[in-house]
Amino acid sequence: MNWDAAAAEKGGYDSFMEKEINDQPDAVGQTLLGRSDIKGNLVLDELRIDESILRSVDKIVVLACGTSAYAGQVAKYAIEHWCRIPTEVELSHEFRYRDPIVNEKTLVVAISQSGETMDTLMAVRYAREQGAKVVAICNTNGSTIPRESDAVLYTHAGPEIAVASTKAFLAQITAAYLLGLYLAQLRGNKYRDEINAVMADLAEIPAKIQTVLDNADKIKQLGTEMSQAKSVLFLGRHVGFPVAMEGALKLKELAYIHAEGFAAGELKHGPIALIEEGQPVVVVMPSSSARDSLHAKVVSNVQEIRARGAVTIVIAEEGDTSVEAYSEHVFYVPATPTLLAPLLTTVPLQIFALALASAKGYDVDQPRNLAKSVTVE
Ligand code: M6R
Repeated sequence: MNWDAAAAEKGGYDSFMEKEINDQPDAVGQTLLGRSDIKGNLVLDELRIDESILRSVDKIVVLACGTSAYAGQVAKYAIEHWCRIPTEVELSHEFRYRDPIVNEKTLVVAISQSGETMDTLMAVRYAREQGAKVVAICNTNGSTIPRESDAVLYTHAGPEIAVASTKAFLAQITAAYLLGLYLAQLRGNKYRDEINAVMADLAEIPAKIQTVLDNADKIKQLGTEMSQAKSVLFLGRHVGFPVAMEGALKLKELAYIHAEGFAAGELKHGPIALIEEGQPVVVVMPSSSARDSLHAKVVSNVQEIRARGAVTIVIAEEGDTSVEAYSEHVFYVPATPTLLAPLLTTVPLQIFALALASAKGYDVDQPRNLAKSVTVE
């Protein structure tokens, strides 16, 4: 481990989780550090897989559990967009049992904060037996999953002590984006200036997360006020979909209330039946500079659920006033390119869950029935 004892203390915060949420600008910043050479090429020193093998990859399979799997789902949108490599994301514990098609041309990306999750470790072993190369994205130096993988890309989030993952999630997305950009560079899918433009956008993310943290009072207050809620639904589309599921998971883990994340487009296929007077629904709006249809469709979803009595809580990009008329509460995050938005929109959801669970008097660092590393299958 390259962590010292001081880094593992609460640093004046009430809980490790609160500290770790506030560590996120650093977690992303450190994960981005030292990734370019003097010519401006992206270099991933730890990625010791032969370049010819990486060029011949025809499929990526991301394996992970829980929050790490949601990081993988976010990364899928970016990797497919930048590299044009078909990318599947699968829960590690489901993967082995369905006779997956994996071979020498498959690149498996195993994402694990702890590096000790048994389900993911077993999936990694299985994938390697089938001939796949495995890159681990991991936050814990020298842990088992990176040791048993062909290569590792470390996230530099520092120790994550709270059971509910926060800063590791943002660092995992960041690392997976670096991997996607690296593959795009290697395979010639993107020009150097295009990659540098994304890197420049990523470099702005830590300061933007800090802005979200500095303006968190309103969302904290809402979390506290909603401590009696029995159920909260989360909606998102495109990269906002895994963010919605992550927001719901935080609430389940910490506040022990029913919470579900849905793809906003799926509403009319069933979940809209859940909407009744007073049902709180958190909506993760796509960036207003995203494809017009993407943004407009989520605006319609907000209108639809509001018309059926939902209390709408919207996370939107600064300057996007399109849903103000249909929302009880709107929380703004700084504008950022569509694919990078999860690095910002996740943060208010973490703060919301923390505030709600704290108001209920629960131990946010050690929620009931959960362990930080799940080392059994
Ligand atoms: O250490 P890992 O990233 O492999 O852990 C995976 C999940 O167990 C973990 O993300 C879990 O879902 C967290 N408690 C979520 O907050």
